[in-house]
Amino acid sequence: MSNDGVNAGRRRFLVAATSVVGAAGTVGAAIPFLGSWQPSARAKAAGAPVRINIAKVEAGQQIVAEWRGQPVFVVRRTAEIMAGLEKLEPALADPESKESEQPEYVDPKNRAIRSELLIVLGICTHLGCAPTFRPEVAPADLGPDWLGGYFCACHGSRYDLAGRVYKAQPAPLNLPIPPHSYETDDVVIIGVDEETA
Ligand code: FES
Repeated sequence: MSNDGVNAGRRRFLVAATSVVGAAGTVGAAIPFLGSWQPSARAKAAGAPVRINIAKVEAGQQIVAEWRGQPVFVVRRTAEIMAGLEKLEPALADPESKESEQPEYVDPKNRAIRSELLIVLGICTHLGCAPTFRPEVAPADLGPDWLGGYFCACHGSRYDLAGRVYKAQPAPLNLPIPPHSYETDDVVIIGVDEETA
């Protein structure tokens, strides 16, 4: 697996984080009487890791959580869904997520730590709309080849149930996978990396 995409993704995260800190630093410098600038409790909470209990996510279903103001989709994938992921590879733009944002500890193709559990940010890589979960097979509006996935209603981008974008869509990249790890079998923490050492 190439790490280029991973590193590029990390850089994007770092750039975003750095610019927020930079902006905060400017505010602190402009108000010297504050002494040292401290982020508010609300700001800290906004960036804090989020625990999600996944015990009640049924096979084939999705729950939605929030982390840093962004939707996090959690899907419990069935054996049929997993088989469909392989079949779809020729139709995908980046089936191994070489260009897309995902931590190095998830599988490059099914994009999960535990293959049955997809954890992905619900942010279309075109212009940032939240794609819709469409797990049905061959619904009338998405056509006979549809094996379940995400459809972005803003401009029509399609993703599979690993968040991988189809070829020739407005969206250029797969949906991002956030840093995450399992605290227990039933609790996942978004924002804390899996221990890979
Ligand atoms: S924002 Fe999703 S297709 Fe444009």
